[in-house]
Amino acid sequence: MSIDQTTLPIVDVNHLTTTFATPRGPLTAVNDVSLTIQRGRSLGVVGESGSGKTVLSRSIIGLLPTFNVSQTGTAMVNGHQVIGVSNKQLREMWGSEVAMVFQDPMTALTPTKRVGEQIAESLRINLKMSRKDAKARAVELLRQVGIPSPERRAKAYPNQLSGGMRQRVMIAIAIACGPKFLVADEPTTGLDVTVQAQVLDLIGELRRESDLTLILVTHDLGVVATRTDDVAVMYAGRIVEQAPTKELFANVAMPYTKGLLDSTPRIDAPSHTRLTSIDGRPPDLVNPPKGCAFAPRCTMATEKCHEERPPLVASTLSANHLFACWYPLGGHAPATTPSEQQ
Ligand SMILES: Nc1ncnc2c1ncn2[C@@H]1O[C@H](COP(=O)(O)OP(=O)(O)OP(=O)(O)O)[C@@H](O)[C@H]1O
Ligand SMILES: [Mg+2]
Repeated sequence: MSIDQTTLPIVDVNHLTTTFATPRGPLTAVNDVSLTIQRGRSLGVVGESGSGKTVLSRSIIGLLPTFNVSQTGTAMVNGHQVIGVSNKQLREMWGSEVAMVFQDPMTALTPTKRVGEQIAESLRINLKMSRKDAKARAVELLRQVGIPSPERRAKAYPNQLSGGMRQRVMIAIAIACGPKFLVADEPTTGLDVTVQAQVLDLIGELRRESDLTLILVTHDLGVVATRTDDVAVMYAGRIVEQAPTKELFANVAMPYTKGLLDSTPRIDAPSHTRLTSIDGRPPDLVNPPKGCAFAPRCTMATEKCHEERPPLVASTLSANHLFACWYPLGGHAPATTPSEQQ
């Protein structure tokens, strides 16, 4: 397929639910998620640990473990259905146009191959580069992702590199063939601030040069604020707030999102400023609460919040600002009643 030849949204997900069979019962990690991403746009996916960011992004590109998963709904990437298609078929379908930076670098690298070779191999197969050119380009990519002495490091095996280095190798592999759609799951966790900025700048350059469509998964709202066009906020497997990035930061609707924002360190804050995190724990996804999943931790929750789950609705203030809350902040109100949404 060629991603250039379409005016369809690159990502079109409808009512996607991903459930794992676990010894305790079915665990719904992604719950009735719908979203679209137009070509060249970038979507930040944020949320606390365990909120479903990785499972959602893996569901969208079809890379989930297959043995204990069931899925309903649809996920189209560039007009192709992803749900129920084998990993092998997807790889063939996408070639080098779709790439993912995985959260855990070790699972994506081959332990028995030198890292330079792993990058070069993909360049030879996908871009038909000669052995010599691919080798030189692999070193150049390692340099671009901030690896010192890249000629030497290209000859290393993954286990000879630090976690941060491996992460950068993964990013080099993901961007090597100039993907058109990139899913980057916490691509900079564990990297120091300077390298983090370098890597994000590199992804930003790719976006400008090649109209790359990007999903950037992170728990860091600071990164999202400057690097993405739109944001989806996840809690307990659902999107609970979604808006263009500027709009979201200008006027947050969900108390949960505000909690995430308040726990993001600010660059301009004095160094002794304490980091707050949201009190309480995320719900058990095997036995989720009946009403709003955030209600048990929300200082504004009423009985209604504990009883009835608020649907995701558009705001009267902005049609593309969605939220799922009975008592939104910032003067937001639902533009439609829940029954009209069905
Ligand atoms: N293969 C699996 N089998 C069973 N449960 C799983 C599996 N993979 C993920 N989960 C569960 O799905 C939920 C969502 O996990 P996910 O990894 O998507 O969270 P996340 O938002 O990416 O968190 P983090 O910020 O820590 O990476 C969690 O409760 C997790 O335990
Ligand atoms: Mg994750």
